[in-house]
Formats: sequence, structure tokens, C-alpha cells
Amino acid sequence: MEENLSLPSQGLGNKNIANISWWRTKFGEEEIQKIKESFFNENISMGSVTEEFEKKIAESLDMPYTLVTTSGSVALLMACIVLGITKEDEVIVPNRTWIATANAPYLLGAKVILVDCEKDRPIIDVDKIEEKITKRTKAIIPVHLNGRNANIKKINEIAKKYGLFVIEDACQAIFSKDQEDFLGTQSDIGCFSLNVTKLISSGGGGILVTKSKKLYEKLKLIRNNGTGNVMIPEYKTLGCNFKFTDIQASMGLVQLSKKQERIFYIKEIYNKYKQAIQSLSSIKLIPVNIENQELPLYVEILCKERQKLIDFLKSKNIHPRISSPNLDCADYLENFNYFPNSNLFAEQGLFLPCGPAQPLENIDYVISVLKEFEQELKKQVNENEKK
Ligand SMILES: Cc1ncc(COP(=O)(O)O)c(C=O)c1O
Repeated sequence: MEENLSLPSQGLGNKNIANISWWRTKFGEEEIQKIKESFFNENISMGSVTEEFEKKIAESLDMPYTLVTTSGSVALLMACIVLGITKEDEVIVPNRTWIATANAPYLLGAKVILVDCEKDRPIIDVDKIEEKITKRTKAIIPVHLNGRNANIKKINEIAKKYGLFVIEDACQAIFSKDQEDFLGTQSDIGCFSLNVTKLISSGGGGILVTKSKKLYEKLKLIRNNGTGNVMIPEYKTLGCNFKFTDIQASMGLVQLSKKQERIFYIKEIYNKYKQAIQSLSSIKLIPVNIENQELPLYVEILCKERQKLIDFLKSKNIHPRISSPNLDCADYLENFNYFPNSNLFAEQGLFLPCGPAQPLENIDYVISVLKEFEQELKKQVNENEKK
């Protein structure tokens, strides 16, 4: 019998369907069988199953070189290490992203330079990048937030003009495209996440892709404490133990085989919400361009009355997730700028229940509650006007 595991952000199991969590994904019998197979073949730590997983990812993203590691955060860190980012450098990062994007260069001592996002999309505003470039700038890390193309072709042009590296943070964008081309595959290095709130998951994990054999060979060393072969150890470069495991790769292989049905399903969820939200005035969908082949991993909305909406949803057993704060909130990132566009997304943003195993009945229920909320708000406005 296949078991559904619903994993909200806290990582707790939630089998009570009356309680709708913001994210649901699924690991079932096939994953268990594959893990068992690995286990009995004594494929436990990083070995042949990991290699098979890397080969399959490389094929599906049409990239020559792919490496897996412990997390998307570590993938970003390894990318910064291999490109030689140090305390002498500045790295340009969008103000709206998950903090891991900035922590990677910051951990290496680099100065993180934040840039505001566009007005209507929580994506780095390319027109504001050039004014931030100095003699110390070494790299740009654009983020394809929720599958949205961060204008990667324009960013690559800017990087070429100033001789900068580009690391694509595609942690929320695996298999999302910019028309024909996969996001995360068009620059020096692309990084993806395999944590539980992603399209496919190995429990935890990260992916690096590159077209450079030289970078790939060096990344392999960095993943293994700078050594190529433990039987003949040579300390070639600085690294750490950033290795994956065959147990995780077993899960990843099964999840990867389900990518097509998952892509189809998350689009269906997005379109259902899109259609319903069009008729509401209290809530605005933050768009993802499906027509251009972008994949809406999450369903994000803006609501001026966000706290009221959260309370209303919770009273109906629906648990949305609040958008993460802007990076300029991190005390350790030096910054003297003001980010009006980012502020709007941070103050009003909310993730509605979604995910590859979120039942469509739950989406219908959430939509009906959103409609109820709209009526409730209208009633309150009318009552206030009468007073
Ligand atoms: C944009 C972004 N970057 C980096 C990461 C880090 O990935 P991980 O959680 O696998 O470390 C995430 C994770 O959600 C993310 O959303």
C-alpha cells in the first residue's frame, strides 16, 4: 500500500486532511524499495547510485557536468569556492530570495551587495545591477524565484561586459524554462535544491551543473575535502565533506522518474488558483509565466490585509506560509539602501497550499474560503461606512 507523507515546512508528518498545510509532497513504496535495494547492495555512502543519479539529472537538464551535494545552500557555497570568491570581492545578490543565496559568498568573507527586485515580480531588477558594479565586483547570483526567469540572458550580457561570473540560484526552479532553455543551465554554474519543498526531493540535497570540465573537476575535489582519491590522498585544494549518499540518490532517482507528472500537476494547481483569484479584489496572484515555460512551484499571493487573511484561513484549518523577510533584515549584511519593491512582497506575500501531492479538493476548499474572506472584508467595509 502506498503511503502519503505530507510534509509541512516544519518537517512534521501531517496525516490529518482536515488540516491543510501550505505544502504537500509524497514519498511512497517505490522510494522505499529503491532505498532497500541500495541498502542490501551495500550502496550506502556516495558511490555508484549517486553516479547514476547525477547522470540522469545531467540528461534531463541537457548538461554535460552535474554534481550532487548535501543541500542547495552548499551547492551555492561550493560554486563560490570554485570561482575563487574571497574577502577581496563583492557579489551582487537580489534582496528578495532565501538567505542561503547571500550566505554563500558571505561565508567566504565577500561583501554582499543587495539589489531591489522588479515592481511586479520578486526578481532582481536588471536595470539596477550596473550601478552597483565596482572594481571589486566578482560575481552576480541571480535567483529564479519560484521558477521565474531572472532575465538570465540580460544578466549574462552585463556579466560579459564587466568580466563577472554568474551563478544561477535555481533552487526553486528545477525544470523551469526561459522559453526553450532550462533555468540554471545558461551561466558559469547553476545550483538547485532537493529539499522537501521542491519539485523532486531526496529528503535533502543540492545539485550543481556546469558546462566547464575544469570547474567540474575542481568541484569534485572541493566536495571531498580537496582530495581526489582517499587511497592515494593528495591535498590538492581546500574543500570539505560535502558528499551526497547513495541512500539519498535512491530516493532522488525515483522522484526524478515522476518529474513529468509533477510538472503537470503543479501547473494544474496554479491554473486553478489563477482562474479563481482573477475575480477577487482583496488578493493578487504573483504571476509565473507558464506560457514562457516557467514552472510555478509555489502559489504566491499579495494581500494588503495579510494578517486578517492568515487568521481567517487558520480558523478554517488552512495553514498558509508567510513570505520570507528581505535580506536587508539580516543584521550582518551591511546595507544602506532602501528597497521599496522588495518591501511590498515581504509585507504582503503569502504562499497558499500547493505542492505535488496537495489534493485538488484541498485547492477547491481553499478557493471557497478565499471567496468567503472577500465577502467578509466587504461586509466589514460596509459596516464601517455606515458608522
Ligand atoms: C532561492 C533558494 N536558494 C537556496 C536555497 C537553499 O536550498 P537548501 O534548502 O537545499 O539548502 C533555497 C531553499 O529553499 C532557496 O529557495
